[in-house]
Amino acid sequence: MTSDIQKIRWGILGTGKIAENFALSLTGLESAVKQSVASRNPHNAVRFSQQFGFANAHPTLQDFFNDPEIDVIYIATPTSLHQEHCLMALNSGKAILCEKPFTRSWEEAYQVVEQSRSLGLFCMEAMWMRFNPFIQECKQLIQQKYIGDICSLNAGIGYKKDLAKLGQPEDGRGAMLVFGCYALNLAFFLFGEPQNHQCQVIRTDAGVDVNCAVILGYPNHTVSITATINGTQSNDVHIVGTDGCIHIPSPFIDPTSMQVISNQAQEIGLTERIGRKLGRMAKPLTGLFPQYTNPVRIGLIREAEETMRCLRLGLTESPIMPLNESLAIHQLLDTIQSSSH
Ligand SMILES: NC(=O)c1ccc[n+]([C@@H]2O[C@H](COP(=O)([O-])OP(=O)(O)OC[C@H]3O[C@@H](n4cnc5c(N)ncnc54)[C@H](OP(=O)(O)O)[C@@H]3O)[C@@H](O)[C@H]2O)c1
Repeated sequence: MTSDIQKIRWGILGTGKIAENFALSLTGLESAVKQSVASRNPHNAVRFSQQFGFANAHPTLQDFFNDPEIDVIYIATPTSLHQEHCLMALNSGKAILCEKPFTRSWEEAYQVVEQSRSLGLFCMEAMWMRFNPFIQECKQLIQQKYIGDICSLNAGIGYKKDLAKLGQPEDGRGAMLVFGCYALNLAFFLFGEPQNHQCQVIRTDAGVDVNCAVILGYPNHTVSITATINGTQSNDVHIVGTDGCIHIPSPFIDPTSMQVISNQAQEIGLTERIGRKLGRMAKPLTGLFPQYTNPVRIGLIREAEETMRCLRLGLTESPIMPLNESLAIHQLLDTIQSSSH
């Protein structure tokens, strides 16, 4: 019975677009308590707390971090502030779930990871794509060799943004940090760390990457990624194996369906099983929160559930999105962003 499950009290820092989606996701979770909200602007915090049903809105960030009623803080501020806000939260004794990209660089990420580890506090990059059931099913299918040995993965990700608002490289608004990180993260999730990489990066005059092509090398297959912020991509993923293929449709970062074609499907009877399983997953998405117009993202819900599961078990990291992988991905992002091509 859910009533016996330890409740976890959430604080949300930031009142923007993703914070709204996350607050909606908590709405569906019985064991999640919507405790507190903080913003630069106290009026925003009050508006947000009333709109999404939080108990408190704090007038200052320090009051928020010091609130003893918060178990875990979801950090949903701009990327350039993630390191500062993560460290403030950890130093106040709070567990953290920090939006992607975790920080702007490996160096910043490393400091957050070190601090969380030395304080023994839960910390996770909010890479909600990894918690989407279709992405998890995709990983299982690959591990079970359902489409044979992998030949290639192709991912294109990006949405056209106003280039005038990108600012400087240190603002953290380039194509790789905003979009490409999802595709890199997917490759790490499905296949682990690549052996090598090649890339080509197109930048604005200020040095912000706007258009990047990256090839990741694995022993027996390749991963190719294009990430753009000056144009919109198809935002889907094609995975080809020696015995079939998988298509994760747009948006592959939080899909609500997946096409799997396997030469072995008839023989091992998996098509029907997967069809039934995925069909069940898709159903709760429709009409779950009919009062809201924003789409409720299944990846966000599952990510919040995983955070609460880890906190109840006293885990300081999630095995699904481990900190060492966030660090390794940041190291690769740094190399791509500083590449001379
Ligand atoms: N939007 C998405 O779909 C999405 C998806 C995945 C991840 N993310 C990540 O989530 C983070 C936030 O993205 P977003 O799209 O939600 O941005 P956003 O709509 O601009 O919201 C960011 C919020 O951060 C707060 N903020 C801004 N400057 C601040 C400051 N100096 N001090 C404290 N708070 C400040 C603001 O809230 P107040 O005005 O109330 O202070 C603002 O509403 C980014 O790291 C992004 O990469 C976004």
